[in-house]
Amino acid sequence: MANFWKPGTERPRLVDDEEGGVLFHYSSSSAYSSGFGYGSIEKQRKRLPIYKYRDAILYLVETHSTTIIVGETGSGKTTQIPQYLKEAGWADGGRVIACTQPRRLAVQSVASRVAEEMGVKFGEEVGYTIRFEDITTEGITRIKFLTDGVLIREMMDDPLLTKYSVIMVDEAHERSISTDIILGLLKKIQQRRPDLHLIISSATIEAKSIAAFFETRRRRPGLEGEELGPKPVPAILSVEGRGFNVEINYVEEAVLDYLRAAVSTVLSILDQESIGDILVFLTGQDDIDATIQLLNEEAYDNGRKSSDLLVLPLYSGLSRAEQDLVFSPTPRGKRKVVMSTNIAETSLTLEGIVYVVDCGFSKQQFYDPISDIESLVVAPISKASARQRAGRAGRLQPGKCYRLYTEEYYTNEMSAVGIPEIQRSNLVSCVIQLKALGIDNILGFDWLASPSPEAMIRALEVLYSLGVLDDDAKLTSPIGFQVAEIPLDPMLSKMILASGQLGCSEEIVTIAAVLSIQSIWISVRGARKELDEAKLRFAAAEGDHVTFLNVYKAFLLSGKSSKWCHKNYVNYHAMKKVIEIREQLKRIMQRLGIGLKSCEWDMQVVRKAIIAGFFANACRLEAYSHDGKYKTVRSSKDVYIHPSSILFRVNPKWVVYHALVSTDRQYMRNVISIDPSWLVEAAPHFYISQAPDFKLAR
Ligand code: CDP
Ligand code: MG
Repeated sequence: MANFWKPGTERPRLVDDEEGGVLFHYSSSSAYSSGFGYGSIEKQRKRLPIYKYRDAILYLVETHSTTIIVGETGSGKTTQIPQYLKEAGWADGGRVIACTQPRRLAVQSVASRVAEEMGVKFGEEVGYTIRFEDITTEGITRIKFLTDGVLIREMMDDPLLTKYSVIMVDEAHERSISTDIILGLLKKIQQRRPDLHLIISSATIEAKSIAAFFETRRRRPGLEGEELGPKPVPAILSVEGRGFNVEINYVEEAVLDYLRAAVSTVLSILDQESIGDILVFLTGQDDIDATIQLLNEEAYDNGRKSSDLLVLPLYSGLSRAEQDLVFSPTPRGKRKVVMSTNIAETSLTLEGIVYVVDCGFSKQQFYDPISDIESLVVAPISKASARQRAGRAGRLQPGKCYRLYTEEYYTNEMSAVGIPEIQRSNLVSCVIQLKALGIDNILGFDWLASPSPEAMIRALEVLYSLGVLDDDAKLTSPIGFQVAEIPLDPMLSKMILASGQLGCSEEIVTIAAVLSIQSIWISVRGARKELDEAKLRFAAAEGDHVTFLNVYKAFLLSGKSSKWCHKNYVNYHAMKKVIEIREQLKRIMQRLGIGLKSCEWDMQVVRKAIIAGFFANACRLEAYSHDGKYKTVRSSKDVYIHPSSILFRVNPKWVVYHALVSTDRQYMRNVISIDPSWLVEAAPHFYISQAPDFKLAR
């Protein structure tokens, strides 16, 4: 490893580099004690850096409408502040304290931790709500964790969020699209509800721009100079962390395959460093599964006993048992290696990590309003993220971070901060939500960072062609309101509505449920052939969506058997989730008066329902294409069917896709073959006015 790495040093002081604060060296005897089972919970709580600030926080929240709290990951913001508020009486009189998170897994994990710390039954005093999962008890729950997306949805029923006394918007530095929207909305709510107190917490100084946002004077639109109420000056509090020094190592030459580089780095750490767990940052589930398999194989080849190692994945969508394993203390004599997405960057704290391996990438959404193409791209992270990742190694003792990129790259090429999600996303969901909340002038909304006007116009166009907005850009009744009511992407919601009319809602609700989760297949590196063969057993000529129906039906016939799943490379947990989501969607449909009806395998109507939502994603096979090249009808961009699709190499002439992923090319995931005449039928103005040269050639 010595000639591979070029050590540099960097101290991951996260609050403000210029401050040059003192590093706190706590006794390292507790270095390997996990949060669990070490000392009383009360003692553990008091040891957290935030504890010293308890009174200050309570004072600031009491005296300010908005308090901004900056503190390093692991200092106790998420788990402690809601408890302090509860102890100080903010949940008395039937009121509720809310704490939002951008990520679902973080919501589940912190809520269960807080319930445990308070010694209460999970789901009663402390609970959580994420999309399709509500673990709270009406009238009983006092501290509620939820995703920021769910909080926006709650505003549809209760526009002023009256049941909450304090809302803590956590992880604000992530600048997720929903965080940005909810901050704008909360600022508005505060004008009507001075009794609502806000806490905005962040792991980085990103907080400064948020403070400035809350400081702007409120003016009545159009009336220059007239102010509404006093100037709300947010309080800012910086919580001193206790990060230890982290030695930063860079590769000398750029690596081509970061999965392999990650594996060999982990093996070197295991060889050369005797203690301490390892956290590897990768981009997503596929990466992580592949790397785990590779590491297990190589470790075995190197003569390492597999019983010495505990290699675990960490990404959204893990089962409860898998999550628990990651957070439980490492058994004596074992080394834990956690392979994570950027969820472990700031949202979750893992104890015992001394080494971090950072691949330098994460999966990010990018949207090009000109071509109307949105895709999930593996893209370089920012310096701010790289610093956060490194910081994970210095929580309990000095640590080391191995960056799988060169120092030159870090210094000269990596951007300082990331772009807020709202500026790189398709805005269809965002626009419909704001419209449903009665915010008609979307361009004039008080944005933390303005989205591009092009993206906004595209979103309005798509919603108009979906029949969700009328000529005045107002929600149509009933379609617009119904689509807004269903907690799915508007295209999926429209597909569900159409299925009611076409008489195939039983089938479509299954498809919508499957499309709402990552994948129903088990991904095993090296077993690609077996997986492909298994898929063929369910293959439908029409494409992936109908194949999902076959899998679902067979799963039910098996008596929902996990054994059956295992044999067929189907992910049992994913299927259970599909059944859960399906039930929830059915309930929502009932409320909206959409009847449940089966089309008895008339796949033409099923495809028509899909097109009713996804007509904008139509593509046509290039006439003389030998490599399966398609052009999007909308913008003539080159796209290809993803190898995981059942239609890969089948290449029907016309298809509609669910989503795009970008690697070397733009790949369509989840594809269905269609008849082009259905497109014009489903969205005449979209196709006829947008693409005048669009011909219905077959
Ligand atoms: O939000 P912040 O990053 O400031 O810290 P936190 O999530 O409140 O974590 C405070 C402490 O609780 C850390 O020592 C975590 O390791 C611990 N914790 C835990 O043991 N299990 C969880 N599920 C969440 C937090
Ligand atoms: Mg936190």
